[in-house]
Amino acid sequence: MSATPSIALEANGLSKRFGALHVTQDVSLSLLVGARTALIGPNGAGKTTLVNLLTGVIQPDQGRLRLFGEEVTSASAAARTRKGLVRTFQISSLFAQLSVFENIFIAVAQAAGRGFCIWHAAGRQKDLLERTEQLVVQLKLEADRHNKVNEIAYGRQRLVEIALALALMPRVLLLDEPAAGIPSNELDLLHGAIESLPRDIAVLMIEHDMEMVRRFATDVSVLVNGALLMSGRPAEVMSHPEVQSVYLGAAGKKRFDGALAHA
Ligand SMILES: Nc1ncnc2c1ncn2[C@@H]1O[C@H](COP(=O)(O)OP(=O)(O)O)[C@@H](O)[C@H]1O
Ligand SMILES: [Mg+2]
Repeated sequence: MSATPSIALEANGLSKRFGALHVTQDVSLSLLVGARTALIGPNGAGKTTLVNLLTGVIQPDQGRLRLFGEEVTSASAAARTRKGLVRTFQISSLFAQLSVFENIFIAVAQAAGRGFCIWHAAGRQKDLLERTEQLVVQLKLEADRHNKVNEIAYGRQRLVEIALALALMPRVLLLDEPAAGIPSNELDLLHGAIESLPRDIAVLMIEHDMEMVRRFATDVSVLVNGALLMSGRPAEVMSHPEVQSVYLGAAGKKRFDGALAHA
């Protein structure tokens, strides 16, 4: 008899309007502990808005959100982060003039509640330095450890974003288009980083690159015009005629089928 996996995040009936625009329409979505879920949908479908609702950057007009069974619908973004709900930071939030190591160290120190003790004697920071080094290694950023963030390849800057998110010890991690803008020859690094995430973190990844989706996701949800169109296994969802026509159009279908051939 196998135990029922527990639910990490559960959204029920989330709705949000911006003026006349109904950007999120009655969205219900659950992530089990250890989930690897992809959220796909055309530009403007409301994917980022949904992430903003989940993280508490904006408040829903209707609906509820639970995190590990606890009601967090009106909790602040910071409170949700402390409970383990973390999204990736944007490159623009990195300190461009500081090194990769320094950027990660600052995040680690802040997560440990020691952001203001940053100039303490090195001995007192040993654990923080070790944790920083762990993240550098985990994200395979060793070669860029001492390089300024604005001097390293774009794809590797995005790995630093993930390191910053991991510094916060997420239990639920939201990745909003982590592959966007990464040249295809650097995508393997990102794949590797995502594959090496601790298994018990629930991960929701918004992604356009169908190859990324195929390699990452055990299930896929499709958002169209702010509403969930369907959810299911990647091969099932990606081959669904409605998904293909609504989401992809003729140009995208070729890419989709290419990814499906390996599914
Ligand atoms: N703060 C806002 N005010 C008004 N409209 C917004 C706001 N944020 C997003 N929108 C609109 O909501 C829709 C969904 O946007 P978004 O969530 O960014 O979509 P996606 O991430 O799927 O591309 C778009 O039409 C966008 O212009
Ligand atoms: Mg978006």
